[in-house]
Amino acid sequence: MEIRISHVQLWQFRNSGHSGDIADMRKRKYFTAVCLLTTILLAIQHILNIDFEIWTSRQPKMKYILYWTEMFHQADFNLGLGSEIFEKCSVSNCFATNNKTLLPVADFDALLFHGVEYNSDVHGKPENRSAHQIYVYSNQEAPTNTPVFERLDNFYNWTMTYRSDSEIIRPYGFFEHKNTDYILPSIEEIRNRSRKIAWLVSNCDTQSLRNRLYENINKYMDVDVYGNCGNLTCPKEDKDKCYDFLEKHYKFYLSFENAYCRDYATEKVFNVLQKNLVPIVYGWADYDKIAPPHSVIDVTKFDSAKSLVAYLRMLDENPAKYMEYFMWKRSYVVDTSNRFALCRLCEKLNEQHSYKVYDNIDNWWRNTAGTEICKMRNSLPKIVVDYKKY
Ligand SMILES: *[C@@H]1O[C@H](CO)[C@@H](O)[C@H](O)[C@H]1NC(C)=O
Ligand SMILES: *[C@@H]1O[C@H](CO)[C@@H](O)[C@H](O)[C@H]1NC(C)=O
Ligand SMILES: *[C@@H]1O[C@H](CO)[C@@H](O)[C@H](O)[C@H]1NC(C)=O
Ligand SMILES: *[C@@H]1O[C@H](CO)[C@@H](O)[C@H](O)[C@H]1NC(C)=O
Ligand SMILES: *[C@@H]1O[C@H](CO)[C@@H](O)[C@H](O)[C@H]1NC(C)=O
Repeated sequence: MEIRISHVQLWQFRNSGHSGDIADMRKRKYFTAVCLLTTILLAIQHILNIDFEIWTSRQPKMKYILYWTEMFHQADFNLGLGSEIFEKCSVSNCFATNNKTLLPVADFDALLFHGVEYNSDVHGKPENRSAHQIYVYSNQEAPTNTPVFERLDNFYNWTMTYRSDSEIIRPYGFFEHKNTDYILPSIEEIRNRSRKIAWLVSNCDTQSLRNRLYENINKYMDVDVYGNCGNLTCPKEDKDKCYDFLEKHYKFYLSFENAYCRDYATEKVFNVLQKNLVPIVYGWADYDKIAPPHSVIDVTKFDSAKSLVAYLRMLDENPAKYMEYFMWKRSYVVDTSNRFALCRLCEKLNEQHSYKVYDNIDNWWRNTAGTEICKMRNSLPKIVVDYKKY
């Protein structure tokens, strides 16, 4: 800032010098001082390699984001309001609101719609769509759990979902490389855990047929079922507290998705990763990519529940081997916040937009035309389809 001011002063003095005024001793002294100061600053700039352009460039224009609908009764879309929510982002000149009269609607840079809830008769259709404006389709549920929604052709420009082919990926969790002071649990603490596998579940009959997997695993190793579908209740109401309880008594947790759909890996995985529990995962996600190295056990890598349980038993009997599943915690952290999506949204709004529009969003979401998005019944993985054999 100070440097910018001295530049301006220098420019003013040069101008007054050229105007041919009679030399004034005081002014000349001052001029010499400013020149000297500038020289020193330029030398500092040269030495430290500071780019004055960055210092003097104007703040980029604010990008305004409007939540046109709620997201399951959340007016803030479960993302938050204002500009503070973007504070931790590398690009942070964004502001989010649900107030449709804060600006003329056409002046907002992006409008967010919760795809499954949006009904133009109820929520209205925004008037006067301006050319620069981006309409964003948002959805965090699996297509098999998504009711049919309004057909809006050539309406949405971008998507914001957990799917990796979305313009803005909104994952249920992500991990970052970061050295931590994580301390492994002691061998004694691991040995003290008297029970094996816990499962907290409330939706018993699902498209992913995860129940079959549970039944087969339970034949060989006890699975304690908490919630609606079992007869155990977590001692604490709060979900976080429940996981705290589970990590004291169990070694494994069934992070089984209710739908076997592309990239659908929910908080069931990421919440458990934040505990000293090993998630046994079942879902159509690339766990090698979305979870830290050696952090989860993917059931689809086994032919049968029997071979899976043989592996679990080996880990159960070898605490050191079991604890290899916690080694990643020294150099990675798992984050379940919305930061990933928020930052990408703000970043992307600041980039040059190439033309993009979804001609049929429902088609993209369910892909009735092309690639399979969800697997069901006999197209599910072998370990589920062939369950009767084991
Ligand atoms: C929305 O913004 C307008 C214009 O700034 C303001 O008058 C109004 O009170 C705001 N509404 C709410 C609910 O904050
Ligand atoms: C849309 O544009 C028309 C014509 O310019 C104007 O009369 C109207 O007030 C605008 N509507 C909104 C919601 O900005
Ligand atoms: C393990 O269990 C024993 C017996 O219940 C107890 O005394 C000990 O404190 C426990 N150790 C740890 C690390 O939890
Ligand atoms: C309920 O728990 C008992 C023992 O605690 C067990 O024998 C029984 O199979 C359980 N029932 C269900 C539905 O899990
Ligand atoms: C967004 O979609 C609208 C409606 O199809 C279109 O007119 C506009 O050019 C699109 N904007 C971008 C940046 O693709």
